[in-house]
Amino acid sequence: MTEKAYGGSTGIPSPKTITKTKNNQTSNLPINKKTKMENKKIQTLDKESLEKLKQAGDIAKQVKQYIKPLIKPNTSLLEIAEKIELKIKELGGKPAFPTNLSINEIAAHDTPAHNDDRIAQGLLKVDIGVHIDGYIADTAFSIDLENSKENQNLIKAAEVGLKKGIDIISLKKPINEIGAEIEKAIKACDFEPVRNLSGHEIEQYELHAGLTIPNFDNTQTTQIKEGTFAIEPFTTNGFGAVRDGKPSGIYSIQGEGNVRDNFARQVLQFIEEEYQTLPFCSRWLVKRFGTKALLALNQIERAGILHHYKQLIEKNNAKVAQAEHTIIITEKEKIVTT
Ligand code: CO
Repeated sequence: MTEKAYGGSTGIPSPKTITKTKNNQTSNLPINKKTKMENKKIQTLDKESLEKLKQAGDIAKQVKQYIKPLIKPNTSLLEIAEKIELKIKELGGKPAFPTNLSINEIAAHDTPAHNDDRIAQGLLKVDIGVHIDGYIADTAFSIDLENSKENQNLIKAAEVGLKKGIDIISLKKPINEIGAEIEKAIKACDFEPVRNLSGHEIEQYELHAGLTIPNFDNTQTTQIKEGTFAIEPFTTNGFGAVRDGKPSGIYSIQGEGNVRDNFARQVLQFIEEEYQTLPFCSRWLVKRFGTKALLALNQIERAGILHHYKQLIEKNNAKVAQAEHTIIITEKEKIVTT
């Protein structure tokens, strides 16, 4: 997602702080403090890590195949999210972030609340994350639920942009060249990329790590190195950028701090153990602890321990489509895991 969104863009960010840069992109800055999660990070792709990345990708693929036929106009969003997340667990993975189900002008960072009564409609983006021991697969697709030619064209453009990105990404390729090609492909479909949402590097337990994969020529010539990357073009017939909307109910740990209340401490401990640095949502905590978790979550948020993601909305309230895959780049090969 976005740059700090998760996606580098836009997506849901990892535990870093968010800053606005002068071109108004958001970017993550790593927290200086060492947290216990950092000890778990492995930088190189050994055989075992590679295997887990591929397994996570495989689960994500199966989940997409399973859910696509079940999404119809008027299906409950809550039901879709729960089915996806249950299937991930049945297949031996864990959700790497709450399923994003974002409709029309909402580009990303929307997940159903525990009591959500909204239904699937319009142009729906489904963004799914799977991890095995912190090794992540991040993938998204869009569906037209109102038989609209324009929705279908927007979706096509995102898919064409994604394909172009996958074709061109390689070791040592400057990131702005990848962005330029994605942008060209999208513009050839007569749409605009969403410029402040981007693909991103992925590391263990870190959804948005290191490099950004832009969806336009951002002039940054940093070269692609070995690693795992999510490419995720967003297309629109609007302005070509997103703004923050309302709080999404999606959070991640961004720092350390204390909460006094015993129950809130218990919830925090659960979050640290279960999600570590990955995004989670209020719905998951209500499922585990009941609705009193919402109050605890509030206290933890006020203690400065959490980042609360905002919904990301197209600046002209125009429709947005998204397509995303996770790709591993090594000296020898390029593997699309999802
Ligand atoms: Co992503």
